[in-house]
This record gives sequence, structure tokens and C-alpha cells, in this order.
Amino acid sequence: MKKICCITGATSGIGKACAESFAKEGYNLIITGRRKERLSQLEYELKKIYPIDIVSLNFDVRDSIEVETNLNSLPENWKNIDILINNAGLAAGREPIFEGDYKDWDQMIDTNIKGLLYVSRTIIPWMKERKTGHIINICSIAGKETYAGGAVYCASKSAVDAISAGMRIDCVPYNIKVTNVCPGAVETEFSLVRFKWDKDKADATYKGYEPLTGEDIAQTILYCATLPKHVCINDLVITPTSQANATTFHRE
Ligand SMILES: NC(=O)c1ccc[n+]([C@@H]2O[C@H](COP(=O)([O-])OP(=O)(O)OC[C@H]3O[C@@H](n4cnc5c(N)ncnc54)[C@H](OP(=O)(O)O)[C@@H]3O)[C@@H](O)[C@H]2O)c1
Repeated sequence: MKKICCITGATSGIGKACAESFAKEGYNLIITGRRKERLSQLEYELKKIYPIDIVSLNFDVRDSIEVETNLNSLPENWKNIDILINNAGLAAGREPIFEGDYKDWDQMIDTNIKGLLYVSRTIIPWMKERKTGHIINICSIAGKETYAGGAVYCASKSAVDAISAGMRIDCVPYNIKVTNVCPGAVETEFSLVRFKWDKDKADATYKGYEPLTGEDIAQTILYCATLPKHVCINDLVITPTSQANATTFHRE
């Protein structure tokens, strides 16, 4: 029987690359996101290439009712999720804390922390029942180190770091693995979103060095997800070779 991988935020970047990598490995997919057209397009493209089944669920992870209603609407056999990739997330703004925008703060906290919690709260009981599963939380190097103008984003990812640790403790009796993945700079739509689609500012983030790609992260996640049953990578920080920590880059 094919395994099922559920990926939140599959319409772009790391999530989309995960969908492509897991499809290639023969997993059936549940892909989610707010941009419905992108989900349909991805579903169409992947089904054209790979002999797999895909369910697209169009919801906002910030809305607990939408999360529960959509996930609970899955046919029973689709609830046998083997891998959950909690990827949906964003940074909004790069202002110092005394100039921060409440809307940006709400969006980051509601998506990165509460959204991840709502999705996990719905799916983990299904894994617990079957005594098997793997949750991969996309945290960030920003969850390990705080940088200027990133207090709230970093705080939201520190929360993910703590939630991953707590989740692992609560889930360990049920044979559920929890892996916390902390990428450094990955070139996706992330910086475009952070800088409100200001392309010059977004491009400057990745200037002078070779950033990671969504595919690099997807391959790393696939590695974590395909280790033997008794092996779990708990925490993983991955950066481009030119990035030493959250703020130190070697730019040519
Ligand atoms: N890129 C980096 O440098 C980097 C580094 C470390 C960690 N990360 C983390 O990696 C994850 C993926 O980011 P990315 O780099 O791939 O950025 P991206 O290309 O902007 O993708 C973000 C994804 O999250 C989804 N999303 C955002 N808000 C959502 C909401 N309220 N409800 C449902 N889905 C939502 C988006 O889908 P819709 O807009 O269609 O809903 C999109 O599919 C994020 O958690 C991010 O914090 C990124």
C-alpha cells in the first residue's frame, strides 16, 4: 500500500518541492494551501507524471474550524497519514520591534504557531491510534538565533522549536517520530512575502552567495522520512555553505 504524506503550504517553495519529491518516491499526497488554482495545477502536473493519488485541500491554517472541517472531511483511508510536513508559514516585515505592524505580528503568530498546532492537533490522534507516524515541523535557523528586525518571526519559530520538543515527548509512547527542520536562507517566495512583494529587497537577501533551494530542503526531509523505523532525526539545522549562522554570510 502506498504511504500518505500531508504537506501544508504546498503551493510554493519548500512545500511544493516536498510535494514533487514525495510524489517521485511514490507517496500519495494531501496538499494544502490558500491558493486554490496553484493546488489544482500542482495536482494536475504531478498526476500526469506519477501513478499516485492526490487530495488537494484549500484552507487557511489560521482558521481552526477550516482546518478541522477540511481534514475531517478526508475519506477514512486518507486519514492514515504516515508523514505530516507542517510547512505553511511566513515572515512579514523586517522592522525593529518599536515600528512593527500588529497585522504582521498576528499573521506570523497565527500561521507559524497556531496554524501548526491546529493541523497537528487534528492529525496526531489518527497517528496515535495507528501507533505510527512522522511529523516534520519546518522551523528555521531563526528559531535558534534572534536577529535584528526579526523579533516576532524568530519568536514564532522559537515556539515551533519548543513545540517540536514537547510534541516528541508526548508522542514517543505512540511510535510517532518528530523532526524539527531549521533551514537558513532558502530562495523561495519567502522574502517576496516578507517584503510585501518588493522584488529588489527580496533579491538582495540572496545576493552574492548561492542560497539553498526548496529542492535541497525537500531532499533533506525525504532523507529524514525514509530512515529505518528505529531512527529519528530530532533536530536539524541546514544552511547554504556560505551561511555560518543566522546573520553571518560570506558574500562575493
Ligand atoms: N525560505 C527561507 O529562507 C526559509 C528559511 C527557514 C524557514 N522557512 C520556513 O519554511 C516554510 C515554507 O516557506 P517557503 O520558504 O517555502 O516560503 P513560500 O514560498 O512563501 O511558501 C510558503 C507556503 O506557506 C503557505 N501559507 C502561508 N500562510 C498560510 C496560511 N495562512 N494558510 C495556509 N497556508 C499558508 C503558502 O501557501 P498559500 O499562500 O497558497 O496559502 C505557501 O505554500 C515556512 O514555514 C518558513 O517560515 C523558510
